[in-house]
Amino acid sequence: MKLWGGRFTGETNELVAKYNSSISFDSRFWREDIKGSIAHALMLGNQGIITREEADQIHKGLTDIYSDIEAGRLQIDMEAEDIHSFVESVLTERIGEAGKKLHTGRSRNDQVALDMRMYSRNCAKEVAKLLKKLQTTIFTLIKENTETYMPGFTHLQKAQPVTLSHHLGAYFEMFERDRSRLKDAYNRMNFSPLGSGALAGTTYPLDREMAAHTLDFAGPTENSMDGVSDRDYLIELLSAFSTIMMHLSRFSEEIIIWNTNEYRFVEIDDAYSTGSSIMPQKKNPDIAELVRGKTGRVYGSLMTMLTVLKGLPLAYNKDLQEDKEAFFDAYDTVTDSITLFDGMLSTIHFNKEVMAQSARNGFTNATDAADYLVTHGIPFRDAHGIIGRLVLYCIDKQKALDDLTLEEFQSFSPAFGEDIFDAISLKTCVEKRNTIGAPGTKAIERMIEHCENCLNA
Ligand code: ARG
Repeated sequence: MKLWGGRFTGETNELVAKYNSSISFDSRFWREDIKGSIAHALMLGNQGIITREEADQIHKGLTDIYSDIEAGRLQIDMEAEDIHSFVESVLTERIGEAGKKLHTGRSRNDQVALDMRMYSRNCAKEVAKLLKKLQTTIFTLIKENTETYMPGFTHLQKAQPVTLSHHLGAYFEMFERDRSRLKDAYNRMNFSPLGSGALAGTTYPLDREMAAHTLDFAGPTENSMDGVSDRDYLIELLSAFSTIMMHLSRFSEEIIIWNTNEYRFVEIDDAYSTGSSIMPQKKNPDIAELVRGKTGRVYGSLMTMLTVLKGLPLAYNKDLQEDKEAFFDAYDTVTDSITLFDGMLSTIHFNKEVMAQSARNGFTNATDAADYLVTHGIPFRDAHGIIGRLVLYCIDKQKALDDLTLEEFQSFSPAFGEDIFDAISLKTCVEKRNTIGAPGTKAIERMIEHCENCLNA
């Protein structure tokens, strides 16, 4: 049954009905729709706009519908126009006249705006929870790998040695910022549009504060035209989701590289990789590749929302119905991606010896060799030149700096002494770097404490 049939005499074109209908996707927030209606009905009763008996009848009717859908006793009818019409028509069928009063002082415009806020603020919480779980996995790896040496890269060229703890600590920070972005968005969006009506409020003495607080909002939205047409919060959430995917995608890219035969830094667990139908030797990092690929999809949803809103005059326009599929798809993608990435990371095997060997072979201690000369009285620019020539020599001899004899060192500069070997050992190179945020032992201790604080906050 249509909620708006009165003014019409002709039938709706079949394709129009299908094109217009939103039940196939807005049925997802049936819980929010019912909770919002209960809060509205109780407020109407409290204000004497409907009688207390009617409010109680509606309350009971809606509670029953809720538990019947939950238990599978009531199927949502996919022929209905949207979830709002479905719930209202079942209610009226079940409780009669009182059901027809539920929509007093309300429009589907503020109703859908309310449902979407309630649903999406919950999504923000869920995603933050999953991120925290992923950070916990990362934190475990951080604590286990303070002495797992590896090359740090710039330009994807070996640069200076770091530890796996330090490298993973960078991702911990990214996901910490992501969580704080979600929290910011949550606090800004947590206002109830219910009571905005179609666009211009209503003449009934609604208590918007009461309805807002019943539904755990910080308060009502301030302007009714904005209340029904604002979807900024979805842009903020989609932007936060996009940034999360971008971070996961960077991490995925590294895992894909580390998993190559050329690197062999990691081995992905069988449960999180797949094989090839033709090449028996293959074990592919599909999850990492899919996370990288699906990032584009979430960016797409953000673009959808920005574009839907850019030319919209105030207040409600049907274009706004497009917010749902875009947001739901992004939400599903981001939650699946975090969950699977977390599973992959918590079961991955790090080939620690290969990683350390890679750091040794790549002249990652060249800066430290130059610093050694500086501490022995040579100006940095000259030291840089001496070590540059030493590196060339090593490349020619296919040796690492650590493999040279003291005589070979001294043939480049008499400033070299026996202590050069200790000064450029992987362990020393890393452990000495103790500025805040660096990979040295003291700095990592500080980082671990900081991570712990983040997870306990
Ligand atoms: N399905 C609609 C949406 O998602 C609900 C609001 C309908 N309002 C209206 N004036 N037709 O936006």
